Amino acid sequence: MVHAELDRLQACLNFALDTLRKEMDKSQLPPLSQHSLVEHPLDDPTTYLPSTALFEARRLSLACLGELKDLVQTPLDKRMDERYTAYAAVCTDTLIKTGIIDYLSDVPNSSQGVPAAELASRFELDSQKLVPILRCFAANGWARETCDYSFALNRCSRSFIKGHAGRRLNLFMPGFMSMVESIPSWVMESDWKLSRSPAQTPFQIAFKTPLHRFAWVMEHPHALIPIADHLQVHGDMSTPSVVADYPWKQLDTPIIVDCGGGKGGLVSAILDAHPSFQAIVQDTENVVALTSSIMEERRPRDVENGRLKVEAHDFFQPQPRIGNDYSFILRHIIHDWPDDEAVGVATILGNVARALGPKSKILIVDMVVVPNVDSTATTNAELFLLDSDVKRVDYSVPSHFGSASKIVNAFSVHMLTLMNGCERSLPEWETLVKGCGLCITNVYPLRAHTSIIECALDTRASP
Ligand SMILES: C[S@@+](CC[C@H](N)C(=O)[O-])C[C@H]1O[C@@H](n2cnc3c(N)ncnc32)[C@H](O)[C@@H]1O
Repeated sequence: MVHAELDRLQACLNFALDTLRKEMDKSQLPPLSQHSLVEHPLDDPTTYLPSTALFEARRLSLACLGELKDLVQTPLDKRMDERYTAYAAVCTDTLIKTGIIDYLSDVPNSSQGVPAAELASRFELDSQKLVPILRCFAANGWARETCDYSFALNRCSRSFIKGHAGRRLNLFMPGFMSMVESIPSWVMESDWKLSRSPAQTPFQIAFKTPLHRFAWVMEHPHALIPIADHLQVHGDMSTPSVVADYPWKQLDTPIIVDCGGGKGGLVSAILDAHPSFQAIVQDTENVVALTSSIMEERRPRDVENGRLKVEAHDFFQPQPRIGNDYSFILRHIIHDWPDDEAVGVATILGNVARALGPKSKILIVDMVVVPNVDSTATTNAELFLLDSDVKRVDYSVPSHFGSASKIVNAFSVHMLTLMNGCERSLPEWETLVKGCGLCITNVYPLRAHTSIIECALDTRASP
């Protein structure tokens, strides 16, 4: 009997794991261990950029593992797995909120584990409720049950300790579950089922507000700091690769304008790596107040000598930075908004396009969805493969990297739910950009979930 799919996936997984091991050794990284209590450099993409081959080997391993799981698991188990993922997420939230994760990280001899009864009494909880929550957390790879009823953090859950990247990324959004729950009726029955407006989504239903999400944040200043922090970590995950994988030296414009630049983390990293550039962070008034104070504290000289400016600018208004001095970054901006609404992508991109000089570029940093048209097709994916060795392998993971693309596709539904936005495929990007008198001059794959879509004025476009 020939088990064609199983054999090819197994061969592909072996190849991917061998490459992973080889590349980790080349980079002098310690072995990966779920028993270790120390964070591994590969655990934090905001601070460590893996080699291209290592990044690809990891993505290919995950794609193979996901495809193997789909092949082997029963559909009923698969559905139970999917349905109950919500509980896994909530168990993690509960253990963060109670303070148990920080406590488990601080206790002496933390690797031996702490009995659930001790945790229950310390935090005045019912151990009968705590044990299933801890076991669910452990079953999802976040902790170890070191002996019956005793639990210890592992290397991965250290990311949830106060101040660490995973904790800051893990935004508690009260109302999130009701937003998710209202998706089916929004899509099928509601008055808004055919609306593309960013102010007619499950967000408004759950939060009982007529405002779109960013306008709502402006009215709720208490939400600003955790949301800005969450968005910054989300952005920071691609920052090392944006800085390393885009050919910044080829940029002909001295000033980089980061539109909707948030807390300014990206331009800071670019200024550090490229002393010849100047930069401007633009965002809404409430955000730039926060960004200015952060920049004045962290980069006082750049602020003082004008190398770095922070300014309020609404990207639905005409862009004031005009001509060949400027190139523009839009990171995680376009995916928030629908295509053609008045408050939508056509207005944002059109405003930037009208400010461009012939030398200016727009760098859109966002995800590029690869549709899973044929489960064995690899053509589209090759555009995003960074390492030539990987291309030579006859592998049968889908072109969109199978379950390694789950995050991209879930994010797309998240954007839809919040703002009627979405993640777009390359043909969708091309249409969008062309409609604003621009053309895509290059696509740079990143060692991240996102790519850089480089655009310029389309000189062939009719006036
Ligand atoms: C998803 S965040 C991305 C932040 C940043 N670009 C990054 O990559 O970390 C979207 C940003 O757009 C900003 N924003 C929303 N509406 C805006 C508007 N009308 N004009 C300017 N910025 C806006 C938000 O305040 C927020 O900082």
